[in-house]
Amino acid sequence: MKKIIIANWKMNPQTADEAEKLSVAVDNFAKKNKKKIIICPPFVYLESLSRKIKSDLGSQDVSSKIIAAGTSHTGEISAKMLKNLGVKYVIAGHSERRGLGETNEIINKKIKEALKNNLRVIFCVGESSRAEGEDYLQFIREELAAGLNKVPSRLLKKIIIAYEPIWAISSAGRLKGESKYHPDAPEDAYQMSIYIKRVLVSLFGKSAINIPILYGGSVDEKNAKEFLEKGNADGLLVGRTSWSAKSFNELLKNI
Ligand code: PGA
Repeated sequence: MKKIIIANWKMNPQTADEAEKLSVAVDNFAKKNKKKIIICPPFVYLESLSRKIKSDLGSQDVSSKIIAAGTSHTGEISAKMLKNLGVKYVIAGHSERRGLGETNEIINKKIKEALKNNLRVIFCVGESSRAEGEDYLQFIREELAAGLNKVPSRLLKKIIIAYEPIWAISSAGRLKGESKYHPDAPEDAYQMSIYIKRVLVSLFGKSAINIPILYGGSVDEKNAKEFLEKGNADGLLVGRTSWSAKSFNELLKNI
């Protein structure tokens, strides 16, 4: 299976012009080098980028609200709107959205809304620390079970799991005033992906075995290859390194 490389632009860049330049540069490079990338820009750029690039687009979020007569939800973006724009994927459960108060129940609603509208889901899970005495395996099991609650097995082929330990995300180090990022060790990420696969199979049976499991958290042009090889990841969810065409294309070149 082709490795899936996802660019999570987060709240960048600040102008449509920059967004277009960045997307065109990475799209061309990916095409030329036969890499599968999914670009997840802020909502406001999705429409114009959908006309400029060939790579798949993902949104960084989706509303959990169900469209129904008489309901109104200021500021929300529905799964149907995204689908109608040509967006293929949505990210759900990113730790930065969980940090704003998103619960497992809300994430589950988002996942189901996205699937109902024929979107594919990049579902993020990850523990905030591996401190001794913390049952982080159980924590991840709960995130998976609650997020995928009542998702029919036949739709599992539309799910990608992104394992992103929160402590490994590049902004985590920066927020603590540290200059160094802390990616997971590829071997540990591999072990975690085996654990995640076991949980998925225990929840859904054998049909869950083919769900891709990606790694994310301080992936850069130097360590990307290790996560795919030693870490056996099916792909990567890349934040900071995807905000510059130079570093993202370098990463694509190195894998
Ligand atoms: P990072 O972000 O690559 O900057 O650590 C990854 C993410 O938050 O998805």
